[in-house]
Amino acid sequence: MIAVESLSAERGGTRVLSDVSLAVAAGEVAVVVGPSGGGKSTLLRCLCGLDPFSTGAVAIAGHRMTAGPQPAPLLERIRRDVGLVFQQFHLFPHLTAIDNVMLAPRVVLGLRAETARTRATHLLERVGLARFATAWPALRERLLGESGAAAS
Ligand SMILES: Nc1ncnc2c1ncn2[C@@H]1O[C@H](COP(=O)(O)OP(=O)(O)OP(=O)(O)O)[C@@H](O)[C@H]1O
Ligand SMILES: [Mg+2]
Repeated sequence: MIAVESLSAERGGTRVLSDVSLAVAAGEVAVVVGPSGGGKSTLLRCLCGLDPFSTGAVAIAGHRMTAGPQPAPLLERIRRDVGLVFQQFHLFPHLTAIDNVMLAPRVVLGLRAETARTRATHLLERVGLARFATAWPALRERLLGESGAAAS
């Protein structure tokens, strides 16, 4: 369950989100659509406790945040329960795709390697990326570099 009540947020001195309210039920799939720069990523970052917001409140995964700085223990609990796939890759370049996916569950949740690997394999399958499990994040760039600037 996600509930956003009258959330506003400023970035770089500009109001990016103004009085946003929404509710997403457990199991419901919701899509946020809008022009580039419209504030979609900012909203998602606020929901995860990655960025602050100036008015309103967010209830997510049994946690509640109000405007202003969040207490560190609350942020730790939210980050255990709420995930965000970033627009840019933001992968560790020294780890394969599956090792990147396994890292947080191992470090934050303390999962054993086999358990984390099973979970990560299922997640990669779910998003159609299982065949890249052992690929390195920079492989595409390395291939492009080797095949010349014309590659796209
Ligand atoms: N850290 C920041 N500092 C200054 N301005 C920011 C910052 N983060 C976001 N913005 C601005 O806030 C606005 C909303 O950005 P945001 O990234 O949320 O848009 P978006 O809807 O996700 O866009 P896109 O579809 O391109 O991903 C943009 O004008 C952006 O330039
Ligand atoms: Mg975005």
